[in-house]
Amino acid sequence: MNKHATSNLKAEKITGGVATDQRHDSAHKHVSGAAVYIDDMPEPAGTLHVGLGLSKVAHGTLKSVDISAVRSAPGVVDVLTYADVPGENDVSPSGMHDDPVLAEGKVQFFGQPIFAVIAETRDAARRAARLAKIEYEELPAILGIWPLDPVKDRLVTTPLTLRRGDAAAAIAAAPRRVKGRMKLGGQDHFYLEGQVSLAVPGEDDEVTVYCSTQGPSETQHLVSHALGVPSHAVTVEVRRMGGGFGGKETQANQCAAIAAIAAKKLKRAVKVRLDRDEDMTATGKRHDFAIDYEVGFDDEGNILGVDFMFALNAGFSADLSGPVGDRALFHCDNAYFYPNVHAKSAPLYTNTVSNTAFRGFGGPQGMIGAERVIDEVAFAVGKDPLEIRKLNFYDPMEAIGRRNVTPYHQKVEDNIIQRIVAELEESANYARRRREIQAFNANSRFIKRGLALTPVKFGISFTKTESNQAGALVHVYADGSVHMNHGGTEMGQGLHLKVAQVVAEEFQIDLERVKITATTTAKVPNTAPTAASSGADLNGMAAQNAARQIRQRLTDFAAERYQVPVDQVVFLPNRVRVGNQEVSFNDLVRQAYIARVQLSAAGFYKTPKIHWDRGKGQGHAFYYYAYGAACAEVSVDTLTGEYVVERADILHDCGRSLNRAIDIGQVEGGFIQGMGWLTTEELWWDDKGRLRTHAPSTYKIPLASDRPKIFNVALTDWSQAYEPTIHRSKAVGEPPLPHGMSVLHALSDAVASVADHKICPRLDAPATPERVLMAIERLKKEVKSGA
Ligand code: MTE
Ligand code: MOS
Repeated sequence: MNKHATSNLKAEKITGGVATDQRHDSAHKHVSGAAVYIDDMPEPAGTLHVGLGLSKVAHGTLKSVDISAVRSAPGVVDVLTYADVPGENDVSPSGMHDDPVLAEGKVQFFGQPIFAVIAETRDAARRAARLAKIEYEELPAILGIWPLDPVKDRLVTTPLTLRRGDAAAAIAAAPRRVKGRMKLGGQDHFYLEGQVSLAVPGEDDEVTVYCSTQGPSETQHLVSHALGVPSHAVTVEVRRMGGGFGGKETQANQCAAIAAIAAKKLKRAVKVRLDRDEDMTATGKRHDFAIDYEVGFDDEGNILGVDFMFALNAGFSADLSGPVGDRALFHCDNAYFYPNVHAKSAPLYTNTVSNTAFRGFGGPQGMIGAERVIDEVAFAVGKDPLEIRKLNFYDPMEAIGRRNVTPYHQKVEDNIIQRIVAELEESANYARRRREIQAFNANSRFIKRGLALTPVKFGISFTKTESNQAGALVHVYADGSVHMNHGGTEMGQGLHLKVAQVVAEEFQIDLERVKITATTTAKVPNTAPTAASSGADLNGMAAQNAARQIRQRLTDFAAERYQVPVDQVVFLPNRVRVGNQEVSFNDLVRQAYIARVQLSAAGFYKTPKIHWDRGKGQGHAFYYYAYGAACAEVSVDTLTGEYVVERADILHDCGRSLNRAIDIGQVEGGFIQGMGWLTTEELWWDDKGRLRTHAPSTYKIPLASDRPKIFNVALTDWSQAYEPTIHRSKAVGEPPLPHGMSVLHALSDAVASVADHKICPRLDAPATPERVLMAIERLKKEVKSGA
């Protein structure tokens, strides 16, 4: 005990508290191979492996499924079909009962799992799977959103309508109007670790599933459902995913169910690990969209009324298509005020794999609609699109109450887009480069440059209200070390690190004293999937709540033991001042343990304020908004359509960032992933409904060499969350993805230069080099014909 309290306490800090730059806790393990993914775990003795038998037609009834040759193949232990599912043959996350574990009677897309071979090795299982003789009676298949009509009998779930004011009347009365359609492609998640589950059977009805899932509670629930046992029998654990990006929000459940069913039936551990081609063929992706729009505006470029219809390709089942369509509508304003608006979604059934969550969850698709409308208006009135953007932004924070109501009637109270765009314009030298590019293009015959600056406003919260809750479990052991657990999952985004920083801050102990542990349904129950960028917001708060309970008990104990008032117990870095004495954190904990103080607590948090009435299309759907802007410059070879991103500048708002090092990584990664979606990543199905781009040989994600030659990423250092979020930070997982729009719009700008910026290029996405070339040729032709 040091009776002479030291001075200069303020300068001293713990290592690794909040608002400090910390590298990812597993960074070294990720690159050295020491990080344990599910396929790296030591396999229990006798582990069996799974090969899937996938449908070879897009739509049909199963006339006969002859698996006798599969059964007798070397190494095969069993073959499962739907008849082996002990509970309900369904892993639908939407409650629509339309996602069979294994196809029953019919198949609804090319690649749908029909049976599962269980064998001694993965190789044996996969070879055997090819020996099945399946007879189909083929049915007509719908292989894409097109043709759009008639849409009515193709809705997989109820569409949403948003309306404010009278859009039709405003458009009709507007001095000018434009109408059009944009096609927007989907995207494969391309997580480095594919779908994988290892199920280990226990006694009675118990099973433990190690699963690469973003939503352990939902996986638990759906596995228990398929097994026909209560949730208490099923434990789902995940230490980390090798990327999720939304692709493991629901798509992990089918493999988990197959592994668990086989494990219980055969009383051996069973592992399912899809290879890349199977993963891309059999699991859902980002929804492709068709966006129909009509906008009325004045000669200045002020938008007066907008009408949107967002049709999205749900695939063969509902999955999350309803909510994804909803989020597109929630973001069809991006950062713009629409005086009159009408927007509708149409999640359409098709015979392709069922599309699902993907970073942004429909939000980016909505924003693309808004930005296309801006582009149309800019070309019509002959102004730089950036001017039209600025003209139509929501009023800034200071001007609350005028032009600040969203199409879903929530007021935008925290708008900082003006300041972000102004700062980025300045730091990226937008005006000067605009002039330089004009001069360059005038003198360059074949290479044309393009520039664009696009904003982002992204709503934070799950629109499904019950998902906005989180739990945590914190133990302080008698030696003063801390075990931290919460309901969120780690997929590379640094969530565990951020939550550990929050706990270290509460106890005022160094980060290394806080142990990050695997997410498991046995420690924290009934959790939301780690999605909607809410991981740190929700779980950070829940863990803070748990840590505060323990700290309060330690405080009460110290006050009583040392006979001082409670407010004289102060947690200093790695020690506690009690009156005029100091005791190390570890000593205080040991004393508290001996005095039988409870040193473990469960924490809980639910987001306040939010509510949403889907029927009315009104509510306070989001707790707050995250903002940002990106400026991209491209050069395009007008003879081939090939392009290079010369430079990108991004300014992004994370409020008071918990960890700028991690957040900048999220912004960079989000931008690159968004750019890939809108430029080179093309999903291509043939007329049989076969996905032909099912490997990196044909599906082109951005390479290191595709990154902008100059890449400046900064976070606003002045912003803070308007609401009392965890340490006033803001969510960062998804909001940066739509910054990739700046590249699409820069390409559009370069294309437009071949027609002297007189014609809106109406580039569809992905704007592959082919598509860019076709747009250039089209514009050249239109100029010639004087259109
Ligand atoms: N970053 C990495 N490295 N890997 C991922 O899989 N997923 C994204 C985003 N950033 C992802 C990522 C998606 S889709 C979401 S919703 C958020 O992270 C989820 O984590 P958070 O809520 O903790 O931000
Ligand atoms: Mo992210 S698409 O919400 O998993």
